Amino acid sequence: MRNVSVTLLAVCMAVGACKTDKLNNPVPEDTGEKYHTLADPEKILKESNANVLIGAAVSATQLAEVGSAYRETVKKQYNCITAENDMKMNALNTSKYVWNFAAKSTIPQFAKEFGFSRIHGHVLVWHRALPAHVTDVKTANASNTQKRDTLLNMMRRHINKTVAYYTNNFKNSSGQPLLKSWDVVNEAYDDAGVLRTGNGTEGSIWMNYIGESYIETAFRYARQAANASNNPDLKLFYNDYGHEYSVAKRNAIYNKVNELKAMTEGGKSIIDGVAMQMHIRYNTSKANVEAAILKMKQTGLKVFIAELDINLRSATEQTANTVLSASEIATREILQKQLYKDVADAYTNIVPVNQRWGITLWNVGDGDSAWGDGARACLYDLTYFRKTNFYYFFDGLKIRL
Ligand code: XIL
Repeated sequence: MRNVSVTLLAVCMAVGACKTDKLNNPVPEDTGEKYHTLADPEKILKESNANVLIGAAVSATQLAEVGSAYRETVKKQYNCITAENDMKMNALNTSKYVWNFAAKSTIPQFAKEFGFSRIHGHVLVWHRALPAHVTDVKTANASNTQKRDTLLNMMRRHINKTVAYYTNNFKNSSGQPLLKSWDVVNEAYDDAGVLRTGNGTEGSIWMNYIGESYIETAFRYARQAANASNNPDLKLFYNDYGHEYSVAKRNAIYNKVNELKAMTEGGKSIIDGVAMQMHIRYNTSKANVEAAILKMKQTGLKVFIAELDINLRSATEQTANTVLSASEIATREILQKQLYKDVADAYTNIVPVNQRWGITLWNVGDGDSAWGDGARACLYDLTYFRKTNFYYFFDGLKIRL
C-alpha cells in the first residue's frame, strides 16, 4: 500500500498532474485516495488555525491502548477533547447515589498528560443514555409531583457532583481547570422545533415530568455548580442537531437560548454558548450550513461545532445500513470533502474570533464512527490514514485566521 502511494506520487509529480497546497505540499487530485506520510509532509489539524481549537470525540477504551494509531492520532492532531460516551449520565451515575468517576478518568487524564487546551463535557441532561434509576421513575408508585421532585433531585445531584469532580481533579499547567465547557442540555427539541414529549425513545423524561422549565433549571444548577466549585468561567452550552435542515428547530433553539441568556445565577448568565452538532450528509448544502451558523452567531453567544461528521449515506441508507457501491462512494466523496472544507470556511467566515469555541470532529476514523464504517464519515480511514477529507478540512480552516 505504502509503495503504491509513493509510486502514485512519483508518477503524478513527473507528469505535473498534482496540485500543491498552500504549504507547497503535493496534494493528489480528487480521487479520494489516501496517502501516507512519505507522500505528504505532516500537517497538524490543531495548528491549522490559531483561532480555532480542534477537538475529537473519543472512547476511553480505545484511548487507553498505548501505542495505538488511534491514541497517537488524537495526541498529535487535536487540542480539545470530548468523551463520546464516557461522561454521559449512564456512564457516570451508575446507581442512585453512586458516581464512578475514578473509572472514568482516562480521557481527562490523557488531556492533562498531553497538554490539551480543553476538556469539553458531554452531557449533563439528555433524554438518552440515562441510568435505570432515572428511567425507573416513570413506572414508580408515586404521584407526578413526587416524580417531578425526584427527577429534579437526581438532576441537581448529578450536575453538582459531575461539575465539581472534573473541575477539581484535572488542572492544566497553570492550575486552571481543564474542564472549560459542558453541554448542559442536549437535544431538547424535535425536528419540528417542539420540545420532546411522549414515552418512546424520542421523548424526554425531563420534559414529561418537569415541563419546559427543566431546561432553565438544568442551566441554573450547572451555573450554581460551576460557581460553587470555583470554576466561574465554565462555559455552559445548549447542544442540538439539525439546525441546517430544520428552520423550525433552528428558530426554536434560537428563541430558547435568547431567553436563557437573560437569566443569571450568582451574577452570571446561565448560558454561554450554542453547540451545533453538525452531523451532516454528503449532499447537505453549504447554504444551509451557512444559514444555520449565521442564526446561531446572531445569539451573540459562543458558537461551537461540537460533533462534526459527514455521512456518505442518506438517512434511508443509514437506517438500512446500505453498502454503497464503489461508484457511489467515488461520486459522493467529491461532495463530502468539499463540504468538510465548506464547514470550516463557513465557521471561520461567519463566527468572529471572540464567539468561536472551536470545531470538534465526531470520532477519529471511519471505524469509530457513531454511524458505522459504512457511513465513511470521518477524516481518517479504518487504519487512521488521513483521507482527502482531512486535507480539505485543513485548508478550509486555514483560509481565515
Ligand atoms: C452517540 C455515540 O457516538 C454512540 O457511540 C452512542 O451509541 C450513542 O450516542 N448526538 C450526541 C451524541 O449528542 O452523544 C451521540 O453520540 C450522537 C448524537
